[in-house]
Amino acid sequence: MRDSLENEIPHIKFKDVSFSYPGKKENLIFKCNFTIKKPGFWMVVGKNGSGKSTLLKLINGIIKPKFGVIESNANIGMVFQNPDHQILMPNCRSELLLNISQNISQNEINKKIEYVLEQVGLTGFEKRPVHSLSGGQKQRLTIACVLVSNRNFILLDEPTALLDQTSQLKVLQTIKNLTSENKRPLSALWITHRYEELTYADAVAELKNGLLSGWQEPSKFQYN
Ligand SMILES: Nc1ncnc2c1ncn2[C@@H]1O[C@H](COP(=O)(O)OP(=O)(O)O)[C@@H](O)[C@H]1O
Ligand SMILES: [Mg+2]
Repeated sequence: MRDSLENEIPHIKFKDVSFSYPGKKENLIFKCNFTIKKPGFWMVVGKNGSGKSTLLKLINGIIKPKFGVIESNANIGMVFQNPDHQILMPNCRSELLLNISQNISQNEINKKIEYVLEQVGLTGFEKRPVHSLSGGQKQRLTIACVLVSNRNFILLDEPTALLDQTSQLKVLQTIKNLTSENKRPLSALWITHRYEELTYADAVAELKNGLLSGWQEPSKFQYN
């Protein structure tokens, strides 16, 4: 079951999805249609309050559409804006262990932890206390947690909003590398309001007035 899930290409499809929070008459998301059907670095931009976090909550099933259908076979992991709200354990290894659910040998666990830390540029950080990490290193640890739990689709909700520029670029580059890997590229949907980040994406769309625009190449992307 796990193998067949892992080998499947994850996809997400919204068909005429509408959503409003209880007690609100206006639809925050209105007849929204889009598809993500291949791995890569997908970015969504939108102003504050445009519904970006709500869109992610619909994708990962925390909230349900009022109308319309969401199809997905993705095994989704989340990265939030503030890693301190997400990391629970005192050091990198214990945080990663918390995210390994399979019954595998100690040797395999060690290999896996070493591998994912390398994938996010944190080689040798196993024993590092979380409080000694920079914001960007913490964000890369949360990405490693998604990888170690065998997710194939990662949703990132403004993951660089609290980071300085150096850390921002490292987190962007980490996702860029993971999504452009030859063997098993990751699918990533990255939410941002920092326009300078769009150049890293394979495809960009804007969330506005409840609708997601069509996917465009970053160089051709224009705001409405
Ligand atoms: N749980 C909630 N209940 C009611 N309204 C909400 C809730 N969460 C968000 N909203 C409202 O929905 C709108 C969009 O929020 P959000 O999806 O967080 O936007 P963004 O992430 O683009 O800033 C905002 O006006 C916000 O106040
Ligand atoms: Mg938000």
